[in-house]
Amino acid sequence: MIQILDKTFETYISPEKIQEEINNLAQKINQDYAGKEVLFIAVLNGSFMFASDIFKKITIPCEISFVKVSSYKGTQTTGRVDELIGLNTDITDKHIVILEDIVDTGITIDKIFTLLRAHQPSSVKIATLLYKPDAFKGKNEPHYVGFTIPNVFVVGFGLDYNEKGRNLEAIYQLKGNDPAQ
Ligand code: IMP
Ligand code: MG
Repeated sequence: MIQILDKTFETYISPEKIQEEINNLAQKINQDYAGKEVLFIAVLNGSFMFASDIFKKITIPCEISFVKVSSYKGTQTTGRVDELIGLNTDITDKHIVILEDIVDTGITIDKIFTLLRAHQPSSVKIATLLYKPDAFKGKNEPHYVGFTIPNVFVVGFGLDYNEKGRNLEAIYQLKGNDPAQ
C-alpha cells in the first residue's frame, strides 16, 4: 500500500503485467497497419509513459507527436472552444493512432476526434492503456484497449492524483473506505 497526499492506494496492475499488455497492443497495431505508416498522437500529460513504451515495440514505419487538449473561452457568446496544442505536423491523408492513458467518460477523446477529423486524415483509431466502460458516454470507443477496468480511481504509470503519483511503475487503485479494512 502507498500513501499519496490524503489517500491510500493499493497495487492493482504490476509493472510486468503492464509491459506484457503493452507488447500485445503493439503487436496488434504492427499487424493491423502492416504495409502502412502510422502517426501516433500521444495525449499529454498522462500518456507519456505508455507512449514511450509502446512506441519502442512498433516495427512499422512511424512518427510520434505529443499534444495537449485545451479549452478556452472563445470570442463567441456560446461556451468554450477546444484546441489541440502541439500538433505541428500535417495529418492530412495520414493514418493516426491516438495514445491515451485512460478513457473514462470519453469526453477528451471525442474532442480530439472532432479536432483531428477537420484535417482529413486517412484514418483515426484510439489506443488506450486503461478503459472504464461503466463511465463511458462518448461517441468514439477505443479500438485498442490494454486493461478494461471498473469505475475505480487509479494512479501510477503516468496517471496522477492531483499531479502526484505519475512516476510510479505500477498502477494503483484507491483503497475502499470500508472502516473494517
Ligand atoms: P475522460 O473522462 O475520458 O475525458 O478522461 C479525462 C482524463 O481524466 C483522462 O485522460 C485522465 O487524465 C483523467 N482520468 C480519468 N480517470 C482517471 C483515474 O482513474 N485516475 C487518474 N486520472 C483519470
Ligand atoms: Mg489524460
